[in-house]
Amino acid sequence: MSESPRSYHLPVLLSEVSKYLITNPEGIYVDGTLGGGGHAEGILTKLNKNAQYIGIDQDKEAIQYSKKRLKRFKNVIYYHSNFADLDIVLNQLKIKMIDGILLDLGVSSYQIDTDDRGFSYMKDTDLDMRMDRDKSQTAGDLLNVLDERELNTIFYTYGEERRARQIAREVVKYRKQQQILRSDQLRDIIDRVVYHRFRIKSYARIFQALRIAVNRELDSLEEALEKTIKFLHQGGRCLVISYHSLEDRMVKNFFKKKANPCTCPPEFPKCICGLKPDIKRITLKAIKASEQEINENPRARSAHMRVGEKI
Ligand SMILES: C[S@@+](CC[C@H](N)C(=O)[O-])C[C@H]1O[C@@H](n2cnc3c(N)ncnc32)[C@H](O)[C@@H]1O
Repeated sequence: MSESPRSYHLPVLLSEVSKYLITNPEGIYVDGTLGGGGHAEGILTKLNKNAQYIGIDQDKEAIQYSKKRLKRFKNVIYYHSNFADLDIVLNQLKIKMIDGILLDLGVSSYQIDTDDRGFSYMKDTDLDMRMDRDKSQTAGDLLNVLDERELNTIFYTYGEERRARQIAREVVKYRKQQQILRSDQLRDIIDRVVYHRFRIKSYARIFQALRIAVNRELDSLEEALEKTIKFLHQGGRCLVISYHSLEDRMVKNFFKKKANPCTCPPEFPKCICGLKPDIKRITLKAIKASEQEINENPRARSAHMRVGEKI
């Protein structure tokens, strides 16, 4: 793993992340998606030495890489875990409250570019796609065991693929002849159904859909969001950067619900349900990357950052 920080992964919206996350330079911060440590490095240079930074990633290689990159900072605790287990991590560290949390969702460029991880449709590799290689279920497993309806749901919901049903049917037909283990085979299956002009987009959608399913990405996000509120100090912030419309919608609706929990009909003169807001939305619209950043880092194009502050 000899990547330079630039080629490992370029952090998105770096200055905006530091600006919105840090409310107390001596506070305790959780980075739930440490990755290549790009955001961490930017944030740590702005924090005091006695601040505490907890870097979580479910990918052991990301933790290893960040440990090297961030070795000059002595106030970082590294944790191999899913951010959905935030409560377990904080309990183990005997930390009761935090000042901020960052979730920069999805995969890193390093994970996509690494040959044996199976995230990219551009190379012929095993269909693995696990971010956490201690987990057992791979993308190949899903393709070989799920029924047609389940595959259709994954392709349609997570991939927003119009030909989901036909691709799911073709997967089931193909695997009657041979197991599906390699990305070339999956591309072949898609080629049988999708007209060649549209294939690249379908590859991207189907591979993304499988990755989301293998890593249970939406479930983890949902669990983590609820837990962050519990652990944030008053005034502490939760920042989420999403790259997929389903994730962004989940974050947007979560913040909206926590900011306006009242269930009383609008014609009621006074609230009687008693539900009080837990958070305040710092920006109503998602924060997006500038054209300049997008030119330097095309991945930034789909980034949507939302910020909630504990009341
Ligand atoms: C977009 S990258 C983060 C890049 C990082 N912010 C940086 O600047 O280098 C996402 C990282 O989050 C990790 N990840 C994704 N979902 C996770 C989850 N539920 N729990 C823990 N880590 C997760 C991935 O393994 C990957 O390393």
